[in-house]
Amino acid sequence: MVFKVGLLGLGTVGTGTAKILLDAARRHPLLETLEIHKVGVRSLDKPRAVDLPEACLTTDLEAIVTDPDIDIVVEVIGGLEPARSLILEAIEDGKHVVTANKAVISRYGNEIAEAAKKAGVYVLYEAAVGGGIPVIQPLQQALGVNRIETVTGIINGTTNYILTRMESEGGDFAPILDDAQKLGYAEADPTADVDGLDAADKIAILASIAFGGKIRREDVFTEGIRNVSASDVNYAKTLGFVIKLLAIAKRNDDSDTTIQLRVHPTLVPLNHPLASVNDVNNAVLVEGDPIGRVMLYGPGAGEGPTASAIVSDVMAIAATLHMESPAEEKLPNPLLSNAYSDYKTISPMEDLESRFYLRLMVKDKPGVIGHLGDIFGQHGLSLESLVQIGLQDNLAELVIVTHEVKEGDFQKALEILKASSADVDSIASVLRVLG
Ligand SMILES: NC(=O)c1ccc[n+]([C@@H]2O[C@H](COP(=O)([O-])OP(=O)(O)OC[C@H]3O[C@@H](n4cnc5c(N)ncnc54)[C@H](OP(=O)(O)O)[C@@H]3O)[C@@H](O)[C@H]2O)c1
Repeated sequence: MVFKVGLLGLGTVGTGTAKILLDAARRHPLLETLEIHKVGVRSLDKPRAVDLPEACLTTDLEAIVTDPDIDIVVEVIGGLEPARSLILEAIEDGKHVVTANKAVISRYGNEIAEAAKKAGVYVLYEAAVGGGIPVIQPLQQALGVNRIETVTGIINGTTNYILTRMESEGGDFAPILDDAQKLGYAEADPTADVDGLDAADKIAILASIAFGGKIRREDVFTEGIRNVSASDVNYAKTLGFVIKLLAIAKRNDDSDTTIQLRVHPTLVPLNHPLASVNDVNNAVLVEGDPIGRVMLYGPGAGEGPTASAIVSDVMAIAATLHMESPAEEKLPNPLLSNAYSDYKTISPMEDLESRFYLRLMVKDKPGVIGHLGDIFGQHGLSLESLVQIGLQDNLAELVIVTHEVKEGDFQKALEILKASSADVDSIASVLRVLG
């Protein structure tokens, strides 16, 4: 069974999507059932970073959304039009749609959802919020049984990058924005990001799902970060806060229908989980009953992360199509089944490479450290650091961190150390070091 994908757009996200779909090995087996049929672009002459048959590419996007061979349309051209019309046309033609377009979903999500319901198709948009971070699906499914109280997000990477740099460098907004533009972290026209509009699009989408109702995009109170100064950042730091652009959707305590919905720069206490979300990273903190707090964190944009979210939506639709198909033997839902046939081979522990932390008590006499060094050297172990912590009862306490070494070699060296009673009194602790 093969499901055909029509890709609208082959820019940053479209390219990442095509790369995953063309290289399905060692990913979910359902990806083997997906095939790129057509790709719509604006210019046929542009060099492309992905190898697609020339016949695949077309500038006729209408032909893709009405192609009877195509099952799933992926819209990653961006902007309001023609994206909105193409999505609606694809739906009307009975195609399932996956999109990363927060601008369209936050403004026309209701119209699109109604059209999809009427046509009996799915429209999924995990990539529209938080890039590669799964947030829409967890809110709808894994966290769906909770009564959600608050969704608080750092959901714009550009503003988070600027605020992080203002905090670490003590610099002002304008020169850091300028530099961010030169480095490619901010667009030439930064309005959507720095004025909070992009975050407002995204929190409108999240609020609709979290609180189960339609949201008017224009109802989101929106204030950007242009007026945040180096002095504000500095004073906030002195008081134990960091300034973040937060997007907040909160259920009012006494109401089932009214919520708060806002985007603005906010002083966040340094011990709050969102305070340490830095640079272009995004995070969404969900608070609900009975789950308590869950934070979803990761890369909020970029070719690979966003494509990961797009293809996971395509795969979810493929699973549904697979279940609906009258064909051969099949599992009820490939996404809920773990019926693996082969065992994976697990490497023996002694073959793994790791750094080690070792704390030991040694005799306080000349030549001990040299002797330890000889034992380590014979087993290919080099030391990253060695510190003598203290001295008591003629024993010195040493803390050693090694460079990466095979576990088997380290354990052999350790056995010899344990047997060197002339030098070593005791091994107090051995821990593996990450990285
Ligand atoms: N970039 C990210 O990290 C990211 C993260 C999350 C969500 N998104 C969303 O993903 C969507 C795509 O973003 P992107 O960064 O991939 O955009 P992009 O790099 O600008 O790519 C847009 C693609 O669409 C094609 N295109 C645009 N308008 C067209 C038209 N009228 N007719 C035919 N083709 C057209 C362009 O064709 P040519 O190549 O021929 O110019 C290009 O291939 C947007 O909705 C964005 O908000 C992006």
